[in-house]
Amino acid sequence: MTETKNESSLTQSQWSDEIIEVNDDIYLHSVNEKFSESLFTLVKRNQAWLQAAMDWPRYVTTSEDTRKTLMANYLLHHRHYTKMYLIFYHNEMVGVFSFNLIEPANKTAYIGYWLDEKMQGLGIISATIEAVIAKFVSEGRVRRFVIKSIVTNKASNQVALRNGFTLEGCLKQAEFLNGQYHDQNIYGRIES
Ligand SMILES: CC(C)(COP(=O)(O)OP(=O)(O)OC[C@H]1O[C@@H](n2cnc3c(N)ncnc32)[C@H](O)[C@@H]1OP(=O)(O)O)[C@@H](O)C(=O)NCCC(=O)NCCS
Repeated sequence: MTETKNESSLTQSQWSDEIIEVNDDIYLHSVNEKFSESLFTLVKRNQAWLQAAMDWPRYVTTSEDTRKTLMANYLLHHRHYTKMYLIFYHNEMVGVFSFNLIEPANKTAYIGYWLDEKMQGLGIISATIEAVIAKFVSEGRVRRFVIKSIVTNKASNQVALRNGFTLEGCLKQAEFLNGQYHDQNIYGRIES
């Protein structure tokens, strides 16, 4: 118990939180353990639906799972290996935007995202992508942005196309999801 508390206070206050204003409706808040309960609730409410698109939701069974995930991601975010932002729409948490990996030498970032099912169709992810790209390009940290999506995930392929990404190819059986290896479209957008 004591050990958990010490570990928590050490890691979660080491760096300042980061906020990105996307527009009047949306802002992004960098990952922090303080969001464990609300993120856990959001994931549980969407679990079956998210599981159709991503492999990790099945492993979320307790809020402690979410807390550990956020703590690990807090370190990775602030050390710039990855990025994880909670998406807020009208001050309510509605999803997550991430760079699942940043390759600093190549100035390349691999994008991930998901939304509360009922918050689709509002342009939240599209606006988020534009804001994050603008920030990382203006800071000179990333110039190539990549979205990888299984070919059957219509909404995600649409997100890439809607936001000016170019289909670069199809990676064969590249993503294991729900017991099968799926072909994956890879999209790139280069900003220099
Ligand atoms: C992928 C996912 C984030 C897409 O959500 P989405 O709502 O379609 O994406 P956006 O937030 O960019 O919104 C775009 C939609 O809002 C509409 N929209 C409304 N206002 C808009 C605006 N100002 N700008 C852009 N789009 C707008 C668009 O027309 C589009 O709807 P449509 O597809 O019916 O035409 C969502 O389906 C999801 O979370 N899926 C499960 C997880 C997942 O698949 N993640 C990706 C794994 S690779």
